[in-house]
Amino acid sequence: MKRLEDMITQEGLVLSDQVLKVDSFLNHQVDPTLMWEIAYEFMDRFKDAGITRILTIEAGGIAPAMMTALRLGVPMVYARKTKSLTLNEGTISAEVYSFTKQQTSTITVAEKYLQAGERVLIIDDFLANGEAAFGLAKLVEQAGAEVAGFGIVIEKSFQPGRQKLLDAGFRVESLARIKKLEAGQATFVDRVNV
Ligand code: G4P
Ligand code: NA
Ligand code: NA
Repeated sequence: MKRLEDMITQEGLVLSDQVLKVDSFLNHQVDPTLMWEIAYEFMDRFKDAGITRILTIEAGGIAPAMMTALRLGVPMVYARKTKSLTLNEGTISAEVYSFTKQQTSTITVAEKYLQAGERVLIIDDFLANGEAAFGLAKLVEQAGAEVAGFGIVIEKSFQPGRQKLLDAGFRVESLARIKKLEAGQATFVDRVNV
C-alpha cells in the first residue's frame, strides 16, 4: 500500500536493524485518514471471505481493527493482555511468548464476543515472530470459530512470523512488507508504485 509505505519512509524511525518506530501515525499518535484507507485495503482483500468478526489485541491493533470492522459492517473485539476487574467468568485464554520482552503473557477474550461458527479476520499492527498472531488464532480455535485470515499493517518480512503462519495454512495479507531495516532506512518487498 503506497501511502503506508510512504509514511513509513518519511516518518518511521529505524531504531535498529530489528525495530521500526511509527509513533507519529500508528503506535501512539494515530492518523485516522490513514487508518480509514488501511481499512479499505483490508475490506477489499477480505470482502468475499465471509467475515463475521474482527479480532485484534490491545493496544496497537485496535485502531486499524476498528476501522476495518466499520468498513465490513461486523463487530470488533480486542484480546486483553492484563487481568481485568470486569472480565473474569466465561473467558477464553492463550499463552503468548514475547521474544522482545522474553516473557510469557496470557491473552484473554470473553466467550460471548467470540462464538462457535464465526469467521474471524485477525488484524494487528505488526507481524514479527508471529507469537501474538498464533495466540489470537488459538483463541479463535478454542471458541470453535474459524480464522479467515490475518490482516497485518506492517510485516517485518525478515522475521519468521509470516512464513510460520503460511506454513500453518493461514492466509496472510500485509499492507507493508519490510524486507530490511538498515542504515536508518526501511526497504520493502515487492514495492508497488500505484
Ligand atoms: P510477535 O508477537 O510477532 O512474536 O512479536 P514480538 O513479541 O516480538 O512483539 C511484541 C510487541 O512489539 C507487539 O506489541 C508488537 O506489535 C510490537 N512490535 C514488534 N516489532 C515491532 C517493531 O519493529 N516496531 C514496533 N513499533 N512494534 C513492534 P505489544 O507490545 O504486544 O503491544 P502494543 O504496543 O500494541 O500495546
Ligand atoms: Na501489536
Ligand atoms: Na505494538
